[in-house]
Amino acid sequence: LENTSANGVKSIKVDAKWKFPRHQIFIEQVLGEGEFGKVLKAKAFNIASRPGYSLVAVKTLKNDARNQDYNDLFSEYQLLKEVNHPHVIQLLGVCSSEDGPLYVIIEYAAFGSLRNYLRKSRHILTAAELGHLEDTFEHKVTARDILSFARQIASGMSYLSDIKLVHRDLAARNILLAENKVCKISDFGLTRDIYEDNAYFKKSKGRVPVKWMAPESLADHLYTTKSDVWSFGVLIWELVTLGASPYPGIQVQNLYNLLKQGYRMERPPNCSTVLYSLMNRCWNVNPEARPSFLDLYHCFDNLLTDNV
Ligand code: ADE
Repeated sequence: LENTSANGVKSIKVDAKWKFPRHQIFIEQVLGEGEFGKVLKAKAFNIASRPGYSLVAVKTLKNDARNQDYNDLFSEYQLLKEVNHPHVIQLLGVCSSEDGPLYVIIEYAAFGSLRNYLRKSRHILTAAELGHLEDTFEHKVTARDILSFARQIASGMSYLSDIKLVHRDLAARNILLAENKVCKISDFGLTRDIYEDNAYFKKSKGRVPVKWMAPESLADHLYTTKSDVWSFGVLIWELVTLGASPYPGIQVQNLYNLLKQGYRMERPPNCSTVLYSLMNRCWNVNPEARPSFLDLYHCFDNLLTDNV
């Protein structure tokens, strides 16, 4: 069902099941902003059978967003309503564009993006921060946390691959960290049906996450669960380096040729040979030779139970 809203933007009806009354949502602050989209922190009253007020995150568009951005946010909603897993961000409701801006309401993750969290954990605490130990203490990241994050993400990705969903932008910046250090795979903004569109690359070249992309995605726009596994290898590297930027000093224009020649990132200091060989298996040039997310889950599970 399609219609056109007051501002001329095409709007597609949202399912009654997910529709949430706009007057029960109270925006508090901006959590993050992109070029055309933004994420807001809000309180929602009686949402998704949670009685009383709950903290939520609201994904919406900026005023100057293009039609394509509306479509992207709407497809994110359509994907989110199909998923249900403890390590995938949960849709809570949606305010349709019929009576105001499109709001996609998702669960709130108290610690924000995993990349930021990892980077913050590097800082040596100042005297002032030591005074507020309750706030900063939780930012400590242990070797066990790293393995646990990897296992949780592998578990969520294994679920997504079971339901035949290809993420296409798996990276630490797109993992959210909730209370009790629980990882939530998020940002389905780039997630699309593999066969759906071919215009995407031309349209938003600036947003293509080259350093996380498998060679076959770079060369042939081919996205599969196996190209998600390649990205997961880069994500393990991000975890081990506490949120460093991959391929430091290498320009994105040169990356494809380097990878084709067999070049891979070197073993980060303090990365075990086991972990390093695991990420290299994800970076096999042959997609079929890469491990599955279930294999990866078991690897991290074993590492976690070995080091009790
Ligand atoms: N930033 C983006 N999405 C978020 C969420 N769901 N919770 C907290 N911070 C976020």
